[in-house]
This record gives sequence, C-alpha cells and structure tokens, in this order.
Amino acid sequence: MTEQIALVTGASSGLGAQFSRVLAANGYTVIAAARREDRLTALCKEIIAAGGKAHPLQMDVTDIAGIPATLDKAEAMAGPITCLINNAGIGTEQRATDVTPDDFDHIMTVNLKAPFFLATEMGRRWIGRKQEGRIVNVSSLSVARAIPGLTSYAMTKAAISRMTQMLAREWINMGINVNAVAPGYINTEINEAAFETDKGKQMTAMMPRRRIGDPSDLDQTILYLSDPTQRFLTGQVIYVDDGQGL
Ligand SMILES: NC(=O)c1ccc[n+]([C@@H]2O[C@H](COP(=O)([O-])OP(=O)(O)OC[C@H]3O[C@@H](n4cnc5c(N)ncnc54)[C@H](OP(=O)(O)O)[C@@H]3O)[C@@H](O)[C@H]2O)c1
Repeated sequence: MTEQIALVTGASSGLGAQFSRVLAANGYTVIAAARREDRLTALCKEIIAAGGKAHPLQMDVTDIAGIPATLDKAEAMAGPITCLINNAGIGTEQRATDVTPDDFDHIMTVNLKAPFFLATEMGRRWIGRKQEGRIVNVSSLSVARAIPGLTSYAMTKAAISRMTQMLAREWINMGINVNAVAPGYINTEINEAAFETDKGKQMTAMMPRRRIGDPSDLDQTILYLSDPTQRFLTGQVIYVDDGQGL
C-alpha cells in the first residue's frame, strides 16, 4: 500500500477523534482538523506515543473560501491527502417551527456546504494529479428514521447521503470512491448532555438493545470505507446503528 494520508475533520472529539486513532493505528498518516487546537494537539501526541503519525490542523469548516488554502497547508505538512473523512458536524434539537433562518444557514453550512466544498476541492486535486482518492462522508440514522426535533439536521444528512451517491457517480471513472457511514446514536459530545436527562435515559431504555453506541463501534466500518484496495465499493451509505432504525 502506498502511503495513505487521511484528513479527518471534526477530529477534536467524538467520532472524529476515534476515526483518527483507528486510522493511525492502521498505518495512515492522519491530519486531525477542527477548531479546538488544544484537543487536536493532545490527540496527535497520543497517536504519536502509540507509534502512529498525526498532525493537528486548526480549521473552521464554515470558512468555505479558506478551504483551498487550508488543504494546501495540510498537504505541505503531511503530503498529498489520499482520503477525506468528512466528519465535522453539529446537531440541534429544535422544533421545526422554532428554526430561524440563521439557525438554518448555520447547520446547512457546517453539515452540508462545508463537506461539499471539501469533497469537491479534494476531487479537483485528485483529478488534476491523476491520483486515486477515497471520501467517507458521515450521514446519520436520522435520514432513515424520522426523529422529532431533528428536521433541519436530518435534512442536512439526507443531502449528505445523496451527495455521496452523486459524487460517486460523477467521479466513477476517475479512481475516486465516495461512500458514507450512517451511524445510529453514539455517545459523544453532540448528544451526551441529552442522554443524561430523564428523557434521554428513557430513549436509551427504548432502543432495541437498550443502549447507545461507543465511537469504537464504527472502527471496522471506517477502515473498510477508507481502504484504498476496496476498488469495487462506491456510492454506498452504510447504516451502523445497532438496529436502532428497525
Ligand atoms: N454521535 C451520534 O450519535 C451521531 C450519529 C449520527 C451521525 N453523527 C455525526 O457524526 C459526526 C461527528 O459527530 P460527533 O457525534 O462525534 O459529535 P462531536 O463530539 O460534537 O464532534 C463534532 C466535531 O465537529 C467539529 N466541528 C463542529 N463545528 C465545526 C466547525 N465550524 N469547524 C470545524 N470543526 C467543527 C467539532 O470540533 P471543534 O468544536 O473543535 O471545531 C468536533 O470535533 C457529525 O457529522 C454528526 O452529525 C453523530
């Protein structure tokens, strides 16, 4: 395998931190990106102490115009990126009638506009260099299961799932494979406060296995979807939800 260099957005906590650990443990050089630089530095130190390679990259994904310069910086640090893990995202629990235009624009920018322009900037680079590439987007169970309060969030994730298929098709003959993982509820900072409330505890009790997931429950899926040798796998959205959508 040639050197694999993965840019993981949203690496300062939750799924992105775990994706960074597992990719690094499997030979990838990881560029761990997010806004909280202290967290990224600590994560990279942990990865390096375990024998891996990692670089912290401060990045606010809402700076869409800054994406090319940020990717230039990432590639100058670590080398040409071979894999993009489009993971940074925010959640909101809001009745649809309470969503303001600013709320709507913000979640659309973080969860959809940024992943789209990160993917297209990487696609442009890979096509220009005649280089193979892998993109793993992070969708959500909320696309398949209508959960009250998550309308705007679920709309962004439905678009991510469709973007995965559309980009996979557009780049089908260019050596670029685009897939997505759609997790069920996993315990991270995005929802840990909600799951500590009485309503949250009730929700956990009503899950088919009366539990929510741990970020490590996605380890094998992220490796599978990032794997450069999986040349026949593209345009897929894989639900990993412990049956929460059943
Ligand atoms: N946990 C679940 O149950 C679940 C289920 C399905 C899908 N997902 C998806 O999984 C992804 C990761 O979420 P998580 O559960 O790991 O939540 P999390 O722990 O809150 O992590 C979110 C990450 O996104 C980053 N982020 C947020 N806004 C950003 C911005 N403007 N610029 C750059 N980075 C930004 C945060 O870093 P900074 O704050 O340091 O920037 C953080 O690293 C999200 O796309 C989420 O929708 C989660």
